[in-house]
Amino acid sequence: MALLGVNIDHIATLREARQGIEPEPIYAASVAEQNGADQITIHLREDRRHIQDRDLKILKKTIQTKLNLEMAATNEMVKIASDIKPDTVTLVPEKREELTTEGGLNLSEVHRNAISSLKKAGIEVSVFIEPDLEMIELAKDLDADAVEIHTGRYANLKKESEIQAEVEKINNAAILTEKLGMRVVAGHGLNYHNTQRLVELNIFEEFNIGHSIISRAVFSGLAEAVLTMKLIVE
Ligand code: PXP
Repeated sequence: MALLGVNIDHIATLREARQGIEPEPIYAASVAEQNGADQITIHLREDRRHIQDRDLKILKKTIQTKLNLEMAATNEMVKIASDIKPDTVTLVPEKREELTTEGGLNLSEVHRNAISSLKKAGIEVSVFIEPDLEMIELAKDLDADAVEIHTGRYANLKKESEIQAEVEKINNAAILTEKLGMRVVAGHGLNYHNTQRLVELNIFEEFNIGHSIISRAVFSGLAEAVLTMKLIVE
């Protein structure tokens, strides 16, 4: 059985739209945990567009499962993570102008120090990379504990033959990751239609899913929210 990490960034996106106090990501984390989430994932971006430093600090104290912090491998972020000590740090690429993480990390020697510092602070280090065998070998060489395979390309494909080829690529990447003794994780763009196929590969230990869960929550909650307000104004 695979573990589910729920990414709550977009609860914070909604809060930041008004720069107010609701919806509260801490409450979202609690609801997710009470309903089976095995991990809460957040991305503290350099531009702080959604998750804020205070969210990270409070979640570290309140989470009952595990906290997975996605971040760029900058000195600022390595310092923040080493102070707060989430259970896992997932190193991701970050560009200011992007809407979301657009591709896997282009791992190189420059990541060795960040990985080593985070591990010294007692944090598990995962790297978010494309299903590319050379990158996976490099992740091992850089001493990563886990690999999160970027499933964004798979999620965007429409043609069955292309989907099949990408699933095979993902499967081969996952097999190599496991063989090299790293934890095998998948994430990005996974939704209620495309996740099952990857679950059936029976190789992923964990899935990190955000946008589709928060999107669905809008509609599973909207009717109740309108009815409750209607009762107030009547
Ligand atoms: N995993 C990583 C490393 C990510 O950067 C993201 C997006 O923040 C996710 C998983 C979740 O992706 P989505 O919101 O598309 O489910």
